[in-house]
Amino acid sequence: MKVYKLIVFIYTLCGKAVRFPHLLILRFRLICYGVKFGKGLSVRGWINLHISPRAKVVIGNNVMLKSGFADNPTACSSKTCLWCYRGSNLVIGDNTGLFGTTIICSESITIGNKTLIAGGTHIYDSNFHSMDPKVRTEGDDGQVETSPVNIGNQCWIGSRCIILKGVTIGDQAVIGAGSVVTKDVPPRQVWAGNPARFVKEIIGESK
Ligand SMILES: CC(C)(COP(=O)(O)OP(=O)(O)OC[C@H]1O[C@@H](n2cnc3c(N)ncnc32)[C@H](O)[C@@H]1OP(=O)(O)O)[C@@H](O)C(=O)NCCC(=O)NCCS
Repeated sequence: MKVYKLIVFIYTLCGKAVRFPHLLILRFRLICYGVKFGKGLSVRGWINLHISPRAKVVIGNNVMLKSGFADNPTACSSKTCLWCYRGSNLVIGDNTGLFGTTIICSESITIGNKTLIAGGTHIYDSNFHSMDPKVRTEGDDGQVETSPVNIGNQCWIGSRCIILKGVTIGDQAVIGAGSVVTKDVPPRQVWAGNPARFVKEIIGESK
């Protein structure tokens, strides 16, 4: 039993030793990219970053960024990825957690405070390509539809959702696992499915 405890202790120490460089490296990379981030940033695993020098990215206080097989089981097979194009604005609020979440920001994506986004969820504010096949096949720069995404405070987005351009998700809303959100979700409602539809109101105290 003592040997087992010793092994667990050493294993835990090794885990912490691995996490520390991840945090240092991420902070260094964020500074290099000109990202403003608050205190208490917590990081697990490798975070993929592609941030244009002309993008504006603000990460609040006590934000959790987790990737892959680290701390959150729903993010096992997915890394957190922040991809921000030139001229885009990304805001991640205080005490918000991204667990294996992909955010691709072409115009504006805002996530409020105390919001949890589970493993494998993708958030896009762009169609990426033109609907016109000629434009699309000949390189569709400048002809792609974009529209801001706003996710409120204290929301909970389940695993493997896709939040599409132009969507606003109200405070304290819950999105069921595997949903594709194409329309605005009012505050304090549960929506789920593809396309996501109203499921129920959230009953209980709102703080
Ligand atoms: C959204 C969720 C939290 C709601 O749970 P719940 O309150 O127990 O809801 P219920 O199971 O009573 O479902 C209510 C209705 O919504 C439907 N529904 C629930 N989740 C759904 C989903 N993800 N996709 C499609 N429909 C869904 C149910 O089929 C049910 O429909 P019905 O009334 O026609 O029978 C839950 O379904 C869910 O998605 N959990 C996973 C969350 C997750 O991804 N966590 C990752 C870790 S953070």
